[in-house]
Amino acid sequence: MRNFDEFSKNSTQRERGLFNLRRFLSTNHQRYARFLDMVKILTLETTCDETAAAVVTDSLEVLGSVVASQDSLHQKFGGVVPEIASRAHLENILPVIDETLRRAEITLADLDAIAVANMPGLAGSLLVGLIAAKTLALTLQKPLIAVNHLQAHIYACKIAFKTDPFPCVGLVVSGGHSSLYRCNGAIDFTFLGGTIDDAAGEAFDKVAAMLGLPFPGGPSIQKAATTGNPKAHSFPRSLLHEDRLAFSFSGLKTAVRYHLFGVGDTKSRAPLTESEIADVAASFQEAAVDCLVGKSLQALKQTGLTTLCVGGGVAANARFRQKMEAAAQEKGFRLFIAPLALCTDNAVMGAIAIERYQAGLFESLDLDVSPGLVRRPNA
Ligand code: KG4
Ligand code: ZN
Repeated sequence: MRNFDEFSKNSTQRERGLFNLRRFLSTNHQRYARFLDMVKILTLETTCDETAAAVVTDSLEVLGSVVASQDSLHQKFGGVVPEIASRAHLENILPVIDETLRRAEITLADLDAIAVANMPGLAGSLLVGLIAAKTLALTLQKPLIAVNHLQAHIYACKIAFKTDPFPCVGLVVSGGHSSLYRCNGAIDFTFLGGTIDDAAGEAFDKVAAMLGLPFPGGPSIQKAATTGNPKAHSFPRSLLHEDRLAFSFSGLKTAVRYHLFGVGDTKSRAPLTESEIADVAASFQEAAVDCLVGKSLQALKQTGLTTLCVGGGVAANARFRQKMEAAAQEKGFRLFIAPLALCTDNAVMGAIAIERYQAGLFESLDLDVSPGLVRRPNA
């Protein structure tokens, strides 16, 4: 049994503690009451070569976010190697989740749901995120929410601009996709058209490799193009003058290849000077951007919609943003392009899960990955 002195000492400490707690709660009351009421979702993103997690709230606040890039691992191959990507996700996923929760200043028990991008993407990569999400959902007994990565790229605009952009035309331009959608709502998309061969980002990556520029190719081409002449070479703008909403970047890529190496000869050529590289990069970039801007305008015209939302890695391109903004000014449509940090893959855009949470759209634990290009309506 404790003696009186010890008791009195402890009770004084406790009283002091209670006093401090009361004072803390009265000054921070609003912040913490709001925090307790919030819906908090952990979102996971492992569709390609970024391992990312975020904690987002139902008011689209980001409490914590981490993106672990694998660029250095894929650099020497000039492109993403799927097996390397999935192994790196496996190593990164738990530290990334831990760090995200630490930044959000919450524990797993504070979460209301677990969301994961399960489509589309690389099968092995998707599986790592999905298994992590299922394990958390099962052990914590929290709902599991599926995120469509392409819808999430468009939703990044809603998060960033804090405004509801729907209905709108959505353009997703990434390493794997170049697609136009009629977006009736955040999770109600109809496919309007997309690339019939390479994605825009893929073309940037491949042309960069031809020019000896580092991976990922998009930022390297953009950098090289700053000193180049976009009119130096006249590369094709495939399908631009047809009404159908489709992209083709394979012809553009091949035209660059023929320009650099000639037809048939793929090995021998004199090294390019810096200014030759800059001119090819600028001329290629201009052609690719013209196609993306031109088809988006056609999509707006054909659907009668007056808002365009753009997301995906290629939307980070400075020339693309400049020409799209000029087109919006000239034609008078509302334009939202995701900010740079939300263009390339991240888990913040997984906040689209809030929409599914509010609609009660939860998944069972037999949820699978869906790696392929999804071209059917509403998917
Ligand atoms: O959305 P994202 O991070 O991943 C996929 O879902 O694919 O997009 C990656 C793609 C890569 O092809 C990369 O070269 C391209 O986006 N990219 C860019 C730029 N930054 C990234 N392309 C053109 N200009 C950029 N500044
Ligand atoms: Zn992406």
